[in-house]
Amino acid sequence: MRQSSLVVVANRLPLDDSAARDGACEWRRSPGGLSGALHAILQQTPATWVGWGGEVDLAPRLPDLGSVRLRPIELSAAEQSGYYEGFANSTLWPLYHDAVQQPVFQREWWETYRSVNRRFAEAAAEVAGKHAAVWVQDYHLQLVPQMLRELRPDLLIGFFMHVPFPPPELFMQLPRRVELVRGMLGADLVGFQREQAAHNLAQLAKKLVGAQTRDDTITVDGRTVRTGAFPVSIDVGEMRALATRPDVVAQAKQLRLDLGKAKRVLLSVDRLDYTKGIEHRLTAYRELLRDGHVKVRDTVLVQVAVPSRERVESYRALRDRVEGEVGRINGEYGRVGEPAIHYLNQPFDRSQLAALYQTADVMVVTPLRDGMNLVAKEFLAAREDGSGALVLSEFAGAAAELTQAFLVNPHDLDGLKDTLLRALGAEPADLADRMSAMRRHIAEHDILAWARAYLTALDHTGRLARQLP
Ligand code: UDP
Ligand code: G6P
Repeated sequence: MRQSSLVVVANRLPLDDSAARDGACEWRRSPGGLSGALHAILQQTPATWVGWGGEVDLAPRLPDLGSVRLRPIELSAAEQSGYYEGFANSTLWPLYHDAVQQPVFQREWWETYRSVNRRFAEAAAEVAGKHAAVWVQDYHLQLVPQMLRELRPDLLIGFFMHVPFPPPELFMQLPRRVELVRGMLGADLVGFQREQAAHNLAQLAKKLVGAQTRDDTITVDGRTVRTGAFPVSIDVGEMRALATRPDVVAQAKQLRLDLGKAKRVLLSVDRLDYTKGIEHRLTAYRELLRDGHVKVRDTVLVQVAVPSRERVESYRALRDRVEGEVGRINGEYGRVGEPAIHYLNQPFDRSQLAALYQTADVMVVTPLRDGMNLVAKEFLAAREDGSGALVLSEFAGAAAELTQAFLVNPHDLDGLKDTLLRALGAEPADLADRMSAMRRHIAEHDILAWARAYLTALDHTGRLARQLP
C-alpha cells in the first residue's frame, strides 16, 4: 500500500451508498457537513482517506478519487449497531447536542466503539508515511488520536470535532469520560468550531486526568496538546458557480413557478435529525397559520428533510412525529393544489440545492444545537443577487459569525413566530445590507481558509497548508 504524507480519518468515506450501487463511483457527497467540507479541499491534494464505505461492500471496485486514495474500513452488522448507531449516535450525539434527546448508555456498545476505533487507528498507521500528518475527524473516532500515537509516535496528529463539545456538567454523565478525554489528548492539536468548546476540554482535562492548562495548551503526562477554534465553512466558489449555471438558474425559475409565482417561500433544508428543531419550526408555522398571520394563498413552507440514521429508534420516532404534524397542517390549512407545506423526505444533489436556495424569500435554519450548520452558509453563497433573508438559531455555531442574520431562540415559540414575521416583512434595503455583510464574511472565510488555518496551526512549517489547492 502506498504511503501518504497526509491522511484523513473520518467515519465515512465521501461516497454515498447510491453512488456505489450504480457502480458509478464518483465524488458523491453523503448529506452532512463533514464530508462536504473535506471533499472541497482534498480533491487536488495527495492524501489517503480512511473511512467506512456505508452498507455496500465497496472494496472490489473502489477507485481513487482525484488525488485522494481511499482506504475503506468494513464494519460488520454488529459493529454498525454498537459503534455507529449505538455509542456514536445514541450516546455521544445526543449528549453533545445539549441532551435535547435523552442519551442512551448501553455498556456493551463501549467495547465495540473501542475496537472499531482501534481498527481505524491501525489502518491510519498502515497508510501514513514516516512523519506524516494524520487528521482525525469527529465524535465517532475520539479514541483514535491516542491509539495512533501509541502505534506511530513519529506522526503529527490532528483531531477536529465538527459537533459541539459540551460543558463539564453534561460530559461528566458519560460512563467512559476519562478514556474519551485521554483519547482526544493523544492529538497534537484539537480543533473545535467554537472557543467555548476548547475551554470545556481544558476544564475536563484538569478535572479528569490531572492536566495543567494554560492559554490554548493542555499539558498531561509530559506532553503538550494545543487547542483552538476553527469555524468550518463551505466552498463558496463552487456554490456561486453552481448558482449561476444557466440550467440551475432555469431550474430555480421553474421551481418558483411551481411553488406559485406570487407566493412568499420559506425554505428549510436539514437531515431529519432531532437537533435541527424541525418540530419547533412546524409548530410555529402552524400557529402562524392558525392566527391568520400567514395564509396558504400567499405563503408556503418547503421543508427538505433528508433521511438520516434510520436504524436508530429516536430518528424513526422523529420521522413519524414530523410526518404526522406535516399531514395535520396540510390537512387543516391546505387547499386543493395549494399545500401549506411541501415536505421532501429525500436527498438532493448540489445543483438541486443551489436552485432551491434561490427560490427562498426566507431561509429558516433553526436547530436546537448545531456545531456549525453549513446549509446557512450555502444559502448565502447561492444568492448572487444579494436578496433574501436568513433566520438563524442562536444555537448554531454559524450564529457567532453571521450576526446580521435574524437571530432567534427556537425554544421560544413566540419569539420564533415574531422573527419569521419580521423576516417576511423586512424592507428590501435592510435585507440587502444584512446579506451583503454576511456574503462578504463567508467569501473571506471559506473552506480553504479553514483548512489552511487548521493545517498551519498543526504544522507551523507550512508544509501541509502548501499542499492545499
Ligand atoms: N445536503 C445535501 N443534500 C441534501 C441536504 C443536505 O447534500 O438533500 C448537504 C448540505 O448541502 C450541507 C450538508 O448536507 O452541505 C449539511 O451540513 P450541515 O452542516 O448543515 O448539517 P449536518 O447534516 O452536517 O448536521
Ligand atoms: C454531522 C456529523 C458528521 C456526519 C454527518 C452525517 O455532520 O458531524 O460526522 O457524517 O452529520 O451523518 P451520518 O451519520 O449520515 O454520517
